[in-house]
This record gives sequence, C-alpha cells and structure tokens, in this order.
Amino acid sequence: MSSTIETVTTVAEVRAATHAARCAGRTVGLVPTMGYLHDGHVSLMTAAAAENDLVVATIFVNPLQFAADEDLSTYPRDLAGDTAKAAGAGVHLLFVPDDGEMYPAEPVTNVVVSTITEHMEGASRPTHFGGVATVVTKLFSIVGECSAYFGEKDFQQLAMVRTMVRDLSMPVNIVGCPIVREPDRLAMSSRNAYLEPSEREAAPVVNRLLRAGAEAIEAGERDPHRVREVMAGVAAAEPLAQLDYAEVVRADNLAPVTTAAEMQGELRLITAVKIGIPRLLDNIGVVVPDSVPSPNDASSPSQESPS
Ligand code: PAF
Repeated sequence: MSSTIETVTTVAEVRAATHAARCAGRTVGLVPTMGYLHDGHVSLMTAAAAENDLVVATIFVNPLQFAADEDLSTYPRDLAGDTAKAAGAGVHLLFVPDDGEMYPAEPVTNVVVSTITEHMEGASRPTHFGGVATVVTKLFSIVGECSAYFGEKDFQQLAMVRTMVRDLSMPVNIVGCPIVREPDRLAMSSRNAYLEPSEREAAPVVNRLLRAGAEAIEAGERDPHRVREVMAGVAAAEPLAQLDYAEVVRADNLAPVTTAAEMQGELRLITAVKIGIPRLLDNIGVVVPDSVPSPNDASSPSQESPS
C-alpha cells in the first residue's frame, strides 16, 4: 500500500498534522524507529497503515539510549532508502528531527520504568531503557492520542512501553507485532549490518538456542535452570558466539521463572548473544499447560514452532 509521503523535521509540524487528523475524526498510527529500515520495520508500518487513517513514522537515532562506548556515531543511516520503504509501506508523514529539535537543552527530565527493566538488557546496558522511555514519552507527547507499533524482537522494550503507558495513563494503544526473520531464522535488525560474513553464518545460533530451550520444555523439562543450561550449551558450541543471557521469564511481566512450579502458562525464552560487534536479541513464546500432556496429545506448547 504505497502512499504520498511528506518528510518533516519539527515538532510543530507533527503536532499540527496529527491534531488536524484527529479533529477530522481520523485515527493516527505511530511507528517509532531509528531508521536503516528493514522488513521488520516495514511490517510495523504496514500494520499501522491497515489500522489507521494517518500513519506517522519517526526516524531518530536517540543519543540518550546509547552508552558512551556504544555505536551512536556509527549507527547505520540511509534516509533516501528509508523514505522509499516507508512510502511503500503506507506511511504518510515521516518525522526526522535532529538532536536540537528533540533536545533543545540538555534534558534533566528522565523517565524511568523500574523492575521490568532491571534484568536482561537493563543489566547489560544500565542507561539504555531510561533513554528509550524518555524518547518514547516525548514522541507520544508530540504525536498525541494514537496507536503505536513496536516489534516483539525487543520484547523487554515492548513490555516496558506497555507498563509505562499503563502507569502514566498515556492515551496510546500499544500494538506489538511479530518478529520478522531472515530465511535462516535470524531476527531482522538494523545492527545485523555489522556482521562479517563468517559471523552472519554463525548468527542463526541465536534462534537455534531458543528453539532448543522450547524443545526441552516441549519434551517435559520443567526445571528452568536446566532449560537455561540447554540454551547456554547451544551457544557454547558456536565459537563466534558470546552468550550474554538466555532467560526463562513470564511473558506478562518478565519475572524470571526460578522454580518448576512457576513453569506454567505463557512463558518467554529471551536471549542476547554477542557475535562480532552486535549483540543479537531474540525471543520465543512457550505455553506450558497446567499438566504434562499425554504422549497422544499432538498439540505443541511452543508458539513459534521450533521445527
Ligand atoms: O526500537 C527502537 O528502534 C528504539 O529503541 C525506539 C523505540 C525507536 C526508541 O528510540
């Protein structure tokens, strides 16, 4: 669904367009991104275009969410390519502010969502989620009442944004969209561009370790520590992979699952693996029924078939 796209750079232009749309009874969809768009972003834009009258996408490489030793200055950028992809996906308004427009002065207000951000990505990147929560709050404040689309690849980010919207009564409907994968099941990410050819070959280990964890649960494993060991074992067999974490958490609040009794209901296996420069993130949903199914029960507990 191709659209005529307009690129704007100021907060005032976005406010005027989204306010006018709502006054005319039109709905607004928002897709926040940092650019260098891939098919995962395109799927968010396509979903927003299917469900809203005005689709706003943002491209802003947010300095607040990068630590001093991270890749802010080298983050890949391609505005011409991004504009074509966004237009092809049905985006009407592309907001591309510069740092001065988003942060006219050194910000002293930071949005912090506690608990749900303190493990996994939050433990490895202690300042990251504060930067994301702050910029997402700004984008919601600029765009106003809308539906906002986020990918499930960054599952902890999505859970944090949902929590923030709930806690602060923000007038935003959060829509989570499925992970888009390469044919070898590597989750799409702008940072995959950093992978050298040999690293790219090794990268499917990230999804493979999750599927090994899901298969262990499917086979009846109910010790979460053992499931973590299974996932870590798969990572250890790939020399280019450095496992950061492979967790078993509750899907709703991301609480770590620590006992067999907690291995029930909707769970998420979540991992981060460093291969070369990038840390590659992925996750998979697993539903554990109350009782172990009989061998004749053909249904699989894994939401994304680990085949
Ligand atoms: O997921 C991202 O690309 C970024 O964290 C986001 C949500 C656009 C905020 O900068």
